[in-house]
Amino acid sequence: MEQTLSIIKPDAVERGLVEEIKNIFIKNNLKIVNEKKLHINKDEAAEFYKVHQSKPFYEQLCNYLSSGPIFVMVLEGENAILENRKIMGATNPKDAIEGTIRKLYGISIDKNSVHGSDSVENAKKEIKFFF
Ligand code: CDP
Ligand code: MG
Repeated sequence: MEQTLSIIKPDAVERGLVEEIKNIFIKNNLKIVNEKKLHINKDEAAEFYKVHQSKPFYEQLCNYLSSGPIFVMVLEGENAILENRKIMGATNPKDAIEGTIRKLYGISIDKNSVHGSDSVENAKKEIKFFF
């Protein structure tokens, strides 16, 4: 069994999509083993997204993730990291395939509704960051 970190970002929390998105994970055999709603500050967002610090969108990304409440979950299942990435869809909702969370709910490349860990190492780090 593998664990991964999922975040429902401010745009989706604000639109009341938490339960709908949780149900998508559950239907796809990802068990929610830990969860919490919180509002992080910009310094915390900057720490979480440190891997992107050299990117042109870093500042905006940190402002955004700290702009409102987020809903954080630990998902568990077989190949949870990859499965979650499939269920989320492509970073840009425009490129995401039908049925994925980002296709269903994403507004734009920055307001793309969800975050998911991309590797075993990052999943461990990100789970530790929040729980
Ligand atoms: O979230 P994901 O792993 O799919 O993408 P990423 O490349 O790790 O980028 C992290 C986040 O930065 C994305 O989810 C977007 O919200 C944001 N981003 C952006 O605002 N503009 C870009 N050109 C690329 C990413
Ligand atoms: Mg990423």
